[in-house]
This record gives sequence, C-alpha cells and structure tokens, in this order.
Amino acid sequence: MVGAVFAVILIVGGGECLTMSTRTLSLPTDELAALVGGTGRAKSVWDEVRRGIEPLSSTSRITSKTRAALEAAGVKQFVPGHPEAVSVARDGTTKLLVRFDDGLAVETVLIPHLKLPRTTLCVSTQVGCDRGCGFCATAAMGLARNLTACEIAAQFYWAKDYATAAPLTNVVFMGMGDAGVNCDASAAAAVALTDHTKFGLARSKVTISTVGPSPTSFRVLAQSPGMLAWSVHAADDDLRRQLVPTQRYSLIELRAGLVDALASRPTVRMRTLMIAATLIQGVNDRDDDAVRLAEFVGPLVDVATKVLLDLIPVNAVDHAPHFQRPDHDRIFKFMDVLRRVEPRVHVAVRITRGDDECAACGQLAVKDSQARVVRRRQRLAAAAGSSSAAIS
Ligand SMILES: *[C@@H]1O[C@H](CO)[C@@H](O)[C@H](O)[C@H]1NC(C)=O
Ligand code: SF4
Repeated sequence: MVGAVFAVILIVGGGECLTMSTRTLSLPTDELAALVGGTGRAKSVWDEVRRGIEPLSSTSRITSKTRAALEAAGVKQFVPGHPEAVSVARDGTTKLLVRFDDGLAVETVLIPHLKLPRTTLCVSTQVGCDRGCGFCATAAMGLARNLTACEIAAQFYWAKDYATAAPLTNVVFMGMGDAGVNCDASAAAAVALTDHTKFGLARSKVTISTVGPSPTSFRVLAQSPGMLAWSVHAADDDLRRQLVPTQRYSLIELRAGLVDALASRPTVRMRTLMIAATLIQGVNDRDDDAVRLAEFVGPLVDVATKVLLDLIPVNAVDHAPHFQRPDHDRIFKFMDVLRRVEPRVHVAVRITRGDDECAACGQLAVKDSQARVVRRRQRLAAAAGSSSAAIS
C-alpha cells in the first residue's frame, strides 16, 4: 500500500521524479512561500542560497519553522549534489565535478575571461549525451539520464565558490548533454538563474545551446529567458549527419523551426542568435562549406536582431584522432568567405580554453564514473524497455 502511494508520486512523465525535494531551486518563489509559510521566509531561504550557504544547515538566518516545513516536504538538502574533484588548467579554466544523490556526476566548467573581471560557467544539462557527435568526448559516454532543472541550476551554486579570479556573471548551457533534448528542464533552469528573487543573472548573460534535435525543441527553448545558440556545424545534410549522426530532420526543417521560435520571442533583444560551427580540417572547413553555411544562415539573419557566428576549431579527443584542427590561415580564410557572402553576421573564432585540462567544449567526459554510468544505463534500459531507444 505504502509502496503504491510512493510509486504514484515518483513516476511522472519522461521518467523524471518531480517531488518537492527535486524541485527546490526551480520551485516558483510564491510556491516556496506557500510551503514555508510566508514570503519573508522564502526570501531568507534564497538569501542563504545566494550567500553560498545550504539553508537547511544554516543556523542563524533560517527559522526552525522554515526548516521543519522543508523537511516535512521531504527536502534533505535544498541545493542538490556536492562538488568533488577540481582541476585547474594553466589559463585558470576550472573543471568541477558535481555528484548527485544517485551517484551520477557531471562536469561544470568555470572559464575566467582573459582580460575582463568576469567568469563564464559552462553547465551540463544531462549525464552523458545521446546525440553522438563524432568530435565529442561526451558522446562516447552515451546518455545516463536527464538532469532536473534544479540540478542544472545547482551547478551555479557549487561553482560560485571556485570563481576566485572574477565573479560568475555568465552561464552557457554547453557542457555535457544537449539542452534541446532536455528542453523543459533546461528552460526551467534558465528561469531559476535569471529570476531576480533567485540567482538574478541578467537574461543577456545566459546562453542556451543545442544541436536542435527537432524543430519544436527550439520552440520550447525560445520560451526560456536565455539567448539561443544552434550548433549547426555544417549546412549540408549529408555532411551534417556525419558529424551529428542522430539528426532526424533536414536542416531546412530545423532552420524553419528556429525561424519560428525566434519570431515568437517577445522582445527584439531576445532575437539575438548564436550559430556555432566546429571546424574540422578537410571535413567542413573548405571555402565551399563556408559559402553554403553563409547562404544557409540568411533566413535566420532576416528574422534575428543579430547573429553571432562562432567558429570552434575542433579539439582533439581520444576516440577521434582523425579529426584535426584546421590551421590558422584556413580558419581565417573560412571567416573571410563567410563575411563576404553574408556580411550581416558577426563572425568570431572561439579561443580554445583549458584544453590542457580537457575542459574545452566537446571534451567533457567523466572518466572516473564512466563505468558506473554505463552500468546504470544498462539497468535503466533493462528496467524500461519502452524507453531504451532514448537511452541507447
Ligand atoms: C529527457 O527529457 C526529454 C524531454 O523532456 C524526454 O523526451 C526524454 O525521454 C528524457 N530522457 C530520459 C532518458 O529520461
Ligand atoms: S557535442 Fe554536445 S550534443 Fe554533441 S554529443 Fe557532445 S554533448 Fe552531445
């Protein structure tokens, strides 16, 4: 009987467990106020979170009634997870492993700006990833599970302590996993990060990146407060399927979805778009590729306020040694062609950061827990035959 009641509470669509204890950071502040008995108490909880103090361990500022209300709702820890291994690269890029209650872990990466006093945090949205991009270390892990919105936002809390050079001001959803696959939780995490009663980041400082698993995934992400980023990599379907083998829709269909999503955004400022292309020598770095890419982004530039085209020279990963970074001259030639064909885009080359510590994009893989992730995937696949397609 008791077991049945628990099962009803825990099994929510998509295999997510949305009990109070897994929604703490994503719970709207008015709902938190209703739970703890007042807006003042809800505010004190969030004041502690912003100070970097776990509210349930706070001795001074949290009343015993607030604590009792949270505990009665099953909350053992208001901020989920705990930080584990830390590694710092020569350029200050800091990789933090955050482990959650079920033993699974993700990486979150702090990237201090080279000149300005600010640090960007690159958060993970899933444990592993099932998109299979050929140049990415995370792809080799497969997908263990989605993170909850709460677990995505919690990475900001844990990372704050390690932002020693300059405060965390920007967040990019470009770590492990794809925000467009885990779109609802990613959108909700962006809300928690920008809510002025919560972490209070500026909307313009949050960027949500996706390969675009479907046209509708852009729609969901467009309802979140962040800037959208599409990892397109190539403007030709055959070539793109070599790089992103899970692509199910044509590039034309995906672009149409993104055009609609951008047009649906309420303010002109929110129609800024980032397009990312990982450049691989001899694969997608020729002049022809640049011409096709420039022509392909045209309809997006028409609807967007501003388009930033980010070129990312590929990082060498163990499992794809044949993917090499184009040389400097090739990258700049590629850039010139893009600018000539589509002068309205702002083209930039992303400086590789932290690659001496494997913390650059497409290099996040949790080596120490990889075996554990694989075992868990096998268990999940065995337990849920119907969802095994999504897991494998
Ligand atoms: C992850 O979330 C997406 C979107 O909510 C859902 O379709 C998918 O089934 C989830 N995957 C897993 C492994 O739970
Ligand atoms: S590049 Fe991003 S979407 Fe592609 S496999 Fe890696 S984490 Fe997933």
